[in-house]
Amino acid sequence: MRKNKNNKPIWGTRIKKNASTLFKKVGGSLLIDKLLFKEDIEGSIAHVEMLYKQKIINFRIKNKIIWGLKRVNNEIIKKKFKFNYDLEDIHMNIESRLFELIGEDAGYIHTARSRNDQVITDLKLWLKKATKKIIILLDSTNSNVLKLAEKNVMTIMPGFTHLKNAQPISLAHYLLAYVEMFKRDKKKFKNNLEFLDENPLGVGALTGTSFKIDRNYTTKKLKFKKPTNNSVDTVSDRDFVLDFLHSSLVCSLHISRIAEELIIWNSDAFNLITLNDKLVTGSSIMPQKKNPDPLEYLRGKTGTFIGNINSMISIIKGLPLSYFKDLQDDKELVFKSNDQLKISLSLLNDVIKNVVFNKKKMLSLAGIGFTTATDLTDYMVRELQYPFRKAYLQTAKIINFAEKKNKKLHELELKELKMIEPKLKADVYKILDLYSSINSKKSYGGTSFENVKKMIKKAKIKND
Ligand code: ARG
Repeated sequence: MRKNKNNKPIWGTRIKKNASTLFKKVGGSLLIDKLLFKEDIEGSIAHVEMLYKQKIINFRIKNKIIWGLKRVNNEIIKKKFKFNYDLEDIHMNIESRLFELIGEDAGYIHTARSRNDQVITDLKLWLKKATKKIIILLDSTNSNVLKLAEKNVMTIMPGFTHLKNAQPISLAHYLLAYVEMFKRDKKKFKNNLEFLDENPLGVGALTGTSFKIDRNYTTKKLKFKKPTNNSVDTVSDRDFVLDFLHSSLVCSLHISRIAEELIIWNSDAFNLITLNDKLVTGSSIMPQKKNPDPLEYLRGKTGTFIGNINSMISIIKGLPLSYFKDLQDDKELVFKSNDQLKISLSLLNDVIKNVVFNKKKMLSLAGIGFTTATDLTDYMVRELQYPFRKAYLQTAKIINFAEKKNKKLHELELKELKMIEPKLKADVYKILDLYSSINSKKSYGGTSFENVKKMIKKAKIKND
């Protein structure tokens, strides 16, 4: 915003003293919100065109302002714009430069608007674009995971619960779980677009305006879907910020779970994967080390997302309506989460492309810990018509016996099995095999190889 001849801010006639030096330094948001310059200018142009259409300003002034705004836009893009940190924010900087470029007519631009509706219009426009970029990144993440899944339908690994071997599964099935997580993230970001598509411009400081503005016109111009309903709510509302921070947080939680899992798999104790040298760092003292630092980075950075959403929740909690300076911090949190999410997703993609599965180790681990015990129970229910609980009990006795003999289930002789459950027959060995265990899980969403192939196909076509 323009300063007057005494180099005082626009409100200098009313407020006689300069703001305290410290507050001037910390109270501004320019360093952060200069990122919104494009959207600010886009919004201003739509506003001015609407003012002209509604005969609130004349043709000459409209053209002059738009010419000036476009010039400011170029100056910023070409890095020729002198940002003035004494002028609080990007809105005031642009307006002030407009005065320098076109003189007093610049003063018409702020007719029927306030920075309160201006700033959220900018932020919503910006968030719409950022959200769409994240959706694209989520799509490419999923297509990379799917490529990996396609190669590993027949790769057998132990499925864990409580990190104890539970039941054998196809590695591809496991990877498809990640696909589901990212599909949900995508949907969340997509859903956020609904509120982001409500146009705040024109609600003024908090009451609306006495000018005969046309909010539907700016809505169309700025490609929103409809104008917001209530002026007080509009300038107070930051739910759309919470939505973005929340969706980012949940996505980062997914990333951190995957990272943690891969860290475990990469440990010497598990040794289920090997990371390409691109994805490890060494130790300054232990020459042999290859540490999975990028994965730890991904896990650790989730803290940033948790912090950002907690900050925004704390700002909003108990804040009366309508606008308060407290809300100014929203943008920094949004930008930080957005930047970090893009970095984290891109890094995760590097990981996905550079991980090698130690298939032999996966297979041998899948055979440890009586992972086909449930199959044996199911067999007794099916073949011997036992109630599930009875079959469960008999299986537990067989496992105790095998444990004592230090044998796997399929290593027990038929006569040993029969000692505990006389009705068992030789065909029981078929179901103790890891492949047939997996292949028997044909229920919808289960790990059978056929299901997994179908699900990969489905995920590829219906990448929605
Ligand atoms: N820089 C401010 C923000 O980001 C713009 C809105 C200022 N409005 C006000 N009434 N002081 O929130």
